[in-house]
Amino acid sequence: MRLTIRDVQKMKDTREPIVMLTAYDAPSARLAEAAGVPTLLVGDSLGMVIQGHDSTVKVRLEHMIYHCEIVSRVTQHPLVVGDLPFMTYKVSTQQALTNAARLMQEGGVSAIKLEGGEWLAPTIERIVASGIPVMGHIGLTPQSVNQFGGFRVQGREIESAYQLVKDALAIEMAGAFGVVLELVPAPVAQYISSLLRIPTIGIGAGGGCDGQVQVYHDLLVLAGEFLPKHAKQYINVGELIRAALAHYAADVKEHQFPDASHSFALKDEILTELRNRVESTLRVFPRKVAAE
Ligand code: KIV
Repeated sequence: MRLTIRDVQKMKDTREPIVMLTAYDAPSARLAEAAGVPTLLVGDSLGMVIQGHDSTVKVRLEHMIYHCEIVSRVTQHPLVVGDLPFMTYKVSTQQALTNAARLMQEGGVSAIKLEGGEWLAPTIERIVASGIPVMGHIGLTPQSVNQFGGFRVQGREIESAYQLVKDALAIEMAGAFGVVLELVPAPVAQYISSLLRIPTIGIGAGGGCDGQVQVYHDLLVLAGEFLPKHAKQYINVGELIRAALAHYAADVKEHQFPDASHSFALKDEILTELRNRVESTLRVFPRKVAAE
């Protein structure tokens, strides 16, 4: 049975920390599930860590559907949430409904996430009313990075902190089942978490949130050397992979790979017969081998 949004609410109610991790493909989804991660986010961060862009702005709905479908199909238990990417829900409520439905029907996710606060609440309300669970996302909303002028902490001043509280309350009132708080000062995130009935999931928002979400590639150092301040390096898989690939390249160059254990043998008599048949039936020109 898959985890549901009711289970996630129960986790907040019983103060059980909610673990969320991004997953984009079959290996990351399977490993996260095997590790017992209960909620997976197919985040549009894939634009940066998979596609190699410097922001999430170039990610399209088709990309999200593609990755959501994989993660949903190869997992059994986690709740899978999919991101609606840049400008696929802000043009009109109709556009948001249509695209949210596509992410569920074609991508197979159980819920969608979108970025925006108070002003987006009416859209969230319509999507929820149509039967699609919605997770909000406020604070640093990466799809608006060009508006923010960089990936900056939000809510450090009284006006912006007050706006964050209003955004969070509006998202809850609109019927969202949870809200991501990204790059928000820890005391503000803790305060919002205490005000909301629904769970807050933090990333760079301190330990006072009801849950935490991290980007798979950050925790494993898989997408290059840059590690955001909020991410903890649990292992440097990127370095392990680089070293293994260099070893492979050296093995090939030095004729160490493949050896007999990675090759397929043939009976001597078959090879002899093959040679005899070729020489008697085909016109072959022996290759000249460069002088040693
Ligand atoms: O796209 C993403 O992975 C996200 C998380 C960083 C919350 O939105």
